Amino acid sequence: MTQTTFAITIAGKPVKDIHSLVAHHLLVVGQTGSGKTTSTLSLLDQLQRTNYTTIIFDPTGEYSKLPNSVTYKLGENAYLEAGQLSAHQLREALQISGSPLLNDKLSQAVDALRIQQNLVRIRKPYVKIGVPIADYQKQLAKLSNWSRSFAPQQLAEQLIEEFVIPYSDERANYALLGQQYDRQTINHEWNAIATIRQRLASDAFRVLFDPEPHPGIFKTELNFVIKMFLEHRSSHRTLVIDLSKLKQYEESQRVVISLLLKNLLAARLQKPNSFPVNIVLDEAHRYLPRDEHQLADNGIFQVLREGRKVGLSMTLITQSPLDLPARLRSQFANLLLHHLTSPEELSSLAIADEIDLHEISQLSTGEAVLSLVNEPQRKINVNLPKWWENNHDRNEENEN
Ligand SMILES: Nc1ncnc2c1ncn2[C@@H]1O[C@H](COP(=O)(O)OP(=O)(O)O)[C@@H](O)[C@H]1O
Ligand SMILES: [Mg+2]
Repeated sequence: MTQTTFAITIAGKPVKDIHSLVAHHLLVVGQTGSGKTTSTLSLLDQLQRTNYTTIIFDPTGEYSKLPNSVTYKLGENAYLEAGQLSAHQLREALQISGSPLLNDKLSQAVDALRIQQNLVRIRKPYVKIGVPIADYQKQLAKLSNWSRSFAPQQLAEQLIEEFVIPYSDERANYALLGQQYDRQTINHEWNAIATIRQRLASDAFRVLFDPEPHPGIFKTELNFVIKMFLEHRSSHRTLVIDLSKLKQYEESQRVVISLLLKNLLAARLQKPNSFPVNIVLDEAHRYLPRDEHQLADNGIFQVLREGRKVGLSMTLITQSPLDLPARLRSQFANLLLHHLTSPEELSSLAIADEIDLHEISQLSTGEAVLSLVNEPQRKINVNLPKWWENNHDRNEENEN
């Protein structure tokens, strides 16, 4: 049934105070098809009505159906500035795993390309042969945080320019970056360089960085979009960052989410006295770090740990609580539990003692148990938003 409240309890009472759901971090769990995304859409619909600001990271494109939202789709009307990524993140996003030497050379190549782009203003590799070390260091020193951008599509070519050495006889000049190519090492690393070249030609790379912009198509940088949205209140309070073009590239999605969240948190920490923002991550298992050691450096974890003091709350949707590392799981004070059948999944939650497994395993689609801080648990029926049926009719028309 479509209603103007988020849900009704089994006792027939509407769940009105939706702000209490997002006053703490909210974890939404349940098997595939149990209604998690639909419940979240219904919650977002209600938050929108109260002008609550939400930023949605959408891995599958399901959230663009939300009316009154602003959608930026990576690979269509949005791109990432490569310079926003550290060399390490760049390697992760493109799944490049080179030798320590090659990794060093790659970060030096990024620096050289930043000089080309921001100081020399030529979109060509930086040829290091014959350049005095002192000159190069002066250029490096001139680069600031404002001149991070570079042309990532030239990384493979630039990499070759990094392998330069002095002459090995009396002509050697150690005040220069190099006098000749180190052909032996280049040959030794050739396979790895070829892999990098291949990654630079991949779909994921084009979606992420928009290396060759097309005339007439205007794209906006994602970090910029988020920053604007955080700083300026507008009447459209729901921002959808659609990452569905990276569906096949989970590694890239993970790096992008982590990066965007870290920057979002940093922006908030700089200007803390602002309106509250709810951050939604669906299919979160895709984005989570693989092991606990990577947690501290992960943007999701950082927002969960530090976000609330600057008005950021997270709504994280995933199939099982076991998808989350324990340290992350413990950050959620609010829970929305859909159909689950395994005792292990429930016992991993902090409120395990208070949950009735039998009840959770009997929930049908759209039913859930809501557990909020300082409130008794409630079994609820989630209402479909008012626009739901129209929207579905429209989708069907589009398919015909
Ligand atoms: N509250 C609800 N009322 C009616 N139908 C629902 C409700 N929640 C989900 N559904 C139906 O179940 C389907 C699967 O729901 P979905 O939210 O995509 O599940 P999940 O995200 O958990 O995989 C939806 O397409 C919708 O048709
Ligand atoms: Mg879903």
